[in-house]
Amino acid sequence: MNPKGISRRRFMKTTAGAAGAAWSARSIALGPGALDAAPAKAAAPSDTVRFGIIGVGMRGAGLLATSIRLPGVECAGAAELYDGRATLAREIVGQPLAVTRRYQDLLERPDIDCIIAPSPDHWHKQLVVDCCRAGKDVYVEKPMTHRVEEGFEIIQAAREHHRMVQVGSQEPSSVVYAKAKELIAQGAIGKVCLIEATMGRNDHCGAWWYTIPPDASPQTIDWETWLGSAPKRPFDAVRWARWRCFQDYGEGIPGDLFIHHLTGIHYVMGVTAPPRRAFTQGGLYRWHDGRDVPDCMTTVYDYGDYSVSLRVTLNTETESGFRFLGDHGILEVHGVENPEGLTITYQDGLDHSPCTPAWPNPMRQQYDRKWHEEHDPAPGTEKIMESTNYYAPPDYDDTRDHLWNFFQSVKNRQPSVEDEEFGNNAAIACHMANESYFHNRPAVWDAESKRIRT
Ligand SMILES: NC(=O)c1ccc[n+]([C@@H]2O[C@H](COP(=O)([O-])OP(=O)(O)OC[C@H]3O[C@@H](n4cnc5c(N)ncnc54)[C@H](O)[C@@H]3O)[C@@H](O)[C@H]2O)c1
Repeated sequence: MNPKGISRRRFMKTTAGAAGAAWSARSIALGPGALDAAPAKAAAPSDTVRFGIIGVGMRGAGLLATSIRLPGVECAGAAELYDGRATLAREIVGQPLAVTRRYQDLLERPDIDCIIAPSPDHWHKQLVVDCCRAGKDVYVEKPMTHRVEEGFEIIQAAREHHRMVQVGSQEPSSVVYAKAKELIAQGAIGKVCLIEATMGRNDHCGAWWYTIPPDASPQTIDWETWLGSAPKRPFDAVRWARWRCFQDYGEGIPGDLFIHHLTGIHYVMGVTAPPRRAFTQGGLYRWHDGRDVPDCMTTVYDYGDYSVSLRVTLNTETESGFRFLGDHGILEVHGVENPEGLTITYQDGLDHSPCTPAWPNPMRQQYDRKWHEEHDPAPGTEKIMESTNYYAPPDYDDTRDHLWNFFQSVKNRQPSVEDEEFGNNAAIACHMANESYFHNRPAVWDAESKRIRT
């Protein structure tokens, strides 16, 4: 999946010796993104969107820092259960900021228009439903749900209270995925029959074994509230910091990483329902540190008209990206979160030499002669097969565009680029991967009962 290597080599191999084909490559800059394309004008105070943030951890700190730099956007308050991160929120904003342990305080404030909610996954549903009921639009992090049934509660709450919900996997706001979607819709690679995506990490941080702040204690963290709807247990700083490793709060590889693949695929392919079936193979091979989720997973999905194969390992650093495989070529997205570009290489799906396996000589020679007469192009009329690279602008940040799109939705009531229906379908696909793994059977989506069957 090397951006410029493997595809090109494969492409050359495919076309080398072809009847009259030659190849060429070109590079095209993508962009600008949604924010940079917007007309620059100073926002009037009455036009400012004021948000509150619930959870200023690893993701929340970044979302906060990015949001306050957007024109016409202001942070009006934060909720955080760990004192150290209450301090961090004030450091990021750089001016006095109301920070509370009770997120309900933010929902009660009439001067707050909307909420950014980068909490651990087991809190997503409750926060979105409470925001909707309080009349606040909400940007909730991915995956939208921790359990299948939560998605339908979120959909109902958003509809009932007419709220904008945007899910935080940023791919639908990326200039790279937008180009991939456009090219595939134009039929650039023909009929897509298979999509492959991969990602590999090989370090403690990548395996979610984050360093615990030395002052983490029941005094500095409101543990009871953090547990929320999860099973009660005594204070445990490991679970607070490394919640992705435990099924009570996260969904392991599918919820943390497959979700980016699935969001990208659903967006590019225009998917509007969960996959039909999923089958997962994997294991907990290396990180025997108390976690109860696997460290390596491969899931194969049936989307009816094509298959999807996702592979993530936390045990080896590998390339990261997508390959959309069609009968007219390959579209390869380089990277997963915030990809830097894509390459499209074309195939014509035709024979480039006579196809006469193991024919006796005279018969083959006669056929071959005729084949060449009919297929070889006249000199100077060789077909040029193009490979095209598209690059995102330098330092492009799709999360910045994703946040911008959310604040525009809040302001203008324009539909969310990744609404609760979209978020639900992608989250269900994650849950199917886990159900298959833990039951060691294919997981089937039953649309009628809105359940996964194994
Ligand atoms: N879109 C992306 O690329 C991306 C990247 C990383 C994380 N995420 C998502 O962001 C979310 C947060 O992940 P993280 O790594 O920042 O987790 P984290 O544990 O580092 O941060 C979460 C913070 O929320 C606080 N919190 C929990 N419940 C709360 C509540 N009820 N009220 C107030 N504060 C509360 C915690 O104390 C913690 O500081 C997850 O859903 C994760 O999947 C998305």
